[in-house]
Amino acid sequence: MKIATTIEEVRQEVREWKRQGLTVGLVPTMGALHEGHASLVERAYRDCNRVVASVFVNPTQFAADEDLESYPRDFEEDCRILQRKGCHLVFHPSVSEMYPEGFATYVELTSDMTKQLCGKTRPGHFKGVCTVVSKLFNIVTPDKAYFGEKDAQQLAVIRRMVFDMAMDVKIVGCPTVREADGLAKSSRNDYLNDDERKAACVLYRALQAALEYIGDGPHAVAVSAPGTSAGPCTEASNVLPLIRNIIAEEPLAEIDYIEIVDGETLQPVEIIKAGDLIAIAIYIGKTRLIDNVRV
Ligand code: PAF
Repeated sequence: MKIATTIEEVRQEVREWKRQGLTVGLVPTMGALHEGHASLVERAYRDCNRVVASVFVNPTQFAADEDLESYPRDFEEDCRILQRKGCHLVFHPSVSEMYPEGFATYVELTSDMTKQLCGKTRPGHFKGVCTVVSKLFNIVTPDKAYFGEKDAQQLAVIRRMVFDMAMDVKIVGCPTVREADGLAKSSRNDYLNDDERKAACVLYRALQAALEYIGDGPHAVAVSAPGTSAGPCTEASNVLPLIRNIIAEEPLAEIDYIEIVDGETLQPVEIIKAGDLIAIAIYIGKTRLIDNVRV
């Protein structure tokens, strides 16, 4: 496994692979890798001839009051994980390599998609994500790029960006990897102390309860709304309080948002249909955790 710190090194390597007719998969990460990231690399390894992983804590997606400085970093451990999973090239640029003096070009969605959910409390976040991801696409020119479904909004936003800008890359969403008790793997789980870690399970518990409620015939109301398949549907206004009550029972949890949205546009829905997302963000102590399930 090679480690590249400059754009030019990556370009040279990828150029040679492409000359040989090999396909390239990209797994963009901010490091602090866990089994969730490892599953993306595994998938890329299965799908493509060569796998590039980027490890870059992207400053432009953090607001001034967020955890840029304290974000966990362990590049050596990241490399061990990447090597084990078959990664061929790690791109680990400096901030100045990605954002040289005078950097002034950003990629931003102007629709409501980035203003919903996490966009409400993290207004510039997706502009930073789209900018760094599109720059990584330009550098690596991957055939496919892999993102976790845990960050469902990020995945939907990146799909939109790729479609709108006719970027020549296939976006592959990969299932959320969970701990045995259901907590979604996240680099930010490292911030939780023992009590907080136990409390964090409430996220998964609430999502599962919502799914059970929706899947349970007796709670469904027989309506058919535009865009939904005919037959029994469930109203979001019945499900949201159920989730809210479960989270309210956990004293260490504070709700940021609970939303049921269309899986593609991320607009809130009234009648829940297949493919919609139930998305939650909560604070456990100072740590903000997100999770979602698809109906
Ligand atoms: O999901 C992440 O880790 C980051 O948002 C990403 C996609 C690597 C961009 O910095």
